[in-house]
Amino acid sequence: MSQHDDKRRKLLGRLNRQLAYTAPLLALVAGGAVLQASAAGDALVADVSSPPGSALMLASNHAEGAAEAQAEAQGEAEAGAEAEAQGEAEGEAEGEAEGEGQAEAEGEAEGGASAKVARPEGYSPAYSETGDNPPEMLARGEALYYDTSLSSNGLACASCHGSDGQDMRYNETFQQPFPHQVAMGTNQFGMSEVHADEMVQICMVAPMAAEPLEWGGEALTSLAAYMVEVQKRVAGEPHDL
Ligand code: HEC
Repeated sequence: MSQHDDKRRKLLGRLNRQLAYTAPLLALVAGGAVLQASAAGDALVADVSSPPGSALMLASNHAEGAAEAQAEAQGEAEAGAEAEAQGEAEGEAEGEAEGEGQAEAEGEAEGGASAKVARPEGYSPAYSETGDNPPEMLARGEALYYDTSLSSNGLACASCHGSDGQDMRYNETFQQPFPHQVAMGTNQFGMSEVHADEMVQICMVAPMAAEPLEWGGEALTSLAAYMVEVQKRVAGEPHDL
């Protein structure tokens, strides 16, 4: 608990300091953002009693809310005209954005790292990791594998993993059927093993720098089914590609 208190104190201290630098009018305008940001601090503290993942969700929801409030605050400051005031408002917005980024990062470090990429509770996949999947599902997965619009950085899965069956950048672990251990899953997300859909989410969030795909949605389901076949191909086993 004391570690949490410590982090919270640091976070609040940082926010208070930012507030103190701000002209009273701007403090009033930006007050909403600061309040919400401290609520994110509370969510981190509540982490101990709530189920894993929920604190992170809370924290990032608040952070998003705060970002909106901030955008509003900045808008108002700009409309309110004085060039000097505007400079300050922008400075403040930047400072807070940093604080929030850190709050989120701290949330993730506290056990929520896998929240975005691990199968959620109650989810059951609509593809098979042990049996066959329908050819249309595999065709859809293959199309998405080449789709750069899935990422925020212009990459497609194929940019790293190769086109036309030239499989690349996989480690030895990919020789085994899913689920199995993957270094990236363990090192970056604290997961002891991953399913194919979880591995798709890991590459979505990390190298593709994007949001995870919708759990149970067509895109995740078909990409995971496709990767199950790629796994067999890489292992030198019969596959449906
Ligand atoms: C910027 C490069 C990059 C991009 C883009 C990328 N990946 Fe990966 N991927 C990697 C690396 C590196 C590994 C090896 C990770 C490891 O073994 O720790 C990997 C591993 C994998 C694995 C195998 C892990 C295992 O051993 O079981 C799968 C499956 C995978 N990626 C799927 C995808 C899919 C699907 C996409 C697109 C949504 C994608 N990747 C996009 C870099 C990338």
